[in-house]
Amino acid sequence: MDYQDILNEIYEKVMSFKDRGIPASYIPELAHVNPENFGLHLRFNTGETYGVGAYHTKFSIQSISKALSLALASSFKNNEILKRLDVEPSGHPFNQLALLEIEHGIPRNPFINSGAIVIADILVSKLKNPKQDFLDYVRDITGDDTIDYDYKVAQSEKDTGHKNYAAAHLLESFGNLKNDVNEVLDFYFHQCSLHMSCTQITKAFYMFANRGKCVLNKTRLTEQRVKRINAIMLTCGFYDEAGEFAFEVGLPGKSGVGGGIAALLPEQFVISVWSPGLNKRGNSKLGMLALEQFTSKTQLSIF
Ligand code: DON
Repeated sequence: MDYQDILNEIYEKVMSFKDRGIPASYIPELAHVNPENFGLHLRFNTGETYGVGAYHTKFSIQSISKALSLALASSFKNNEILKRLDVEPSGHPFNQLALLEIEHGIPRNPFINSGAIVIADILVSKLKNPKQDFLDYVRDITGDDTIDYDYKVAQSEKDTGHKNYAAAHLLESFGNLKNDVNEVLDFYFHQCSLHMSCTQITKAFYMFANRGKCVLNKTRLTEQRVKRINAIMLTCGFYDEAGEFAFEVGLPGKSGVGGGIAALLPEQFVISVWSPGLNKRGNSKLGMLALEQFTSKTQLSIF
């Protein structure tokens, strides 16, 4: 199969779309991005790579980072993840608070915002210098020291992230936040502000497609943990659109409001796409379409 041809066909199709969705603006700094951008990168476990469009351009990975923070938190022995979080799809938007109150401060899963804030809290407890240590972890799994936070985006979310402050306080009221709200959210906003390209994302997610072994051949997750994180990506990675993504694309994955999506087929490949315009559920409109086209044309999905 000529994968480059397939990526080129997908590129042509998505670039012909007039309605590209709308970039997120609730984090004001994200609204500056050009919605015409589109990048796609494919990395097979064999080492072959293919790319099309702006796949070297860095963007705000936002919630894609939640898979990486979950991976780091899962790698500690005696972690409290399963005591403090559930692993069920929420069927509600990523920032919804009602369910958190009804379910007594136990987030439905680690990928909705409240769940990712609990994971951030666990990391703040475990790490000596949380922001630097998490950044070092991402640099380590990718073998790329140029990866950094976008401090303007982190500050922009700090200034406007009222629902995340509400979620953190609600968690605290139920005894499910151990550290100071401001410290946990400062870590969480930086984690979400990671500024990475599609090529860097396919490297970071390689360990999920390769039984826990990273691009530089170091093992950073057990096979059991990889299996579990991939299961959570499949069932919860796209919030109230997780069913639709499984139905259309058929891969475990994780989206972010910066318009990025990372997805993978265990033992085979990682694919990452970026198109900043979002659909109504906060997932990249053309990113989802491109991945649907890819798995339909290649018949490479878990189903
Ligand atoms: O907490 C937030 O709202 C953002 N930092 C991340 C949300 C996000 O990316 C949801 N994904 N589609």
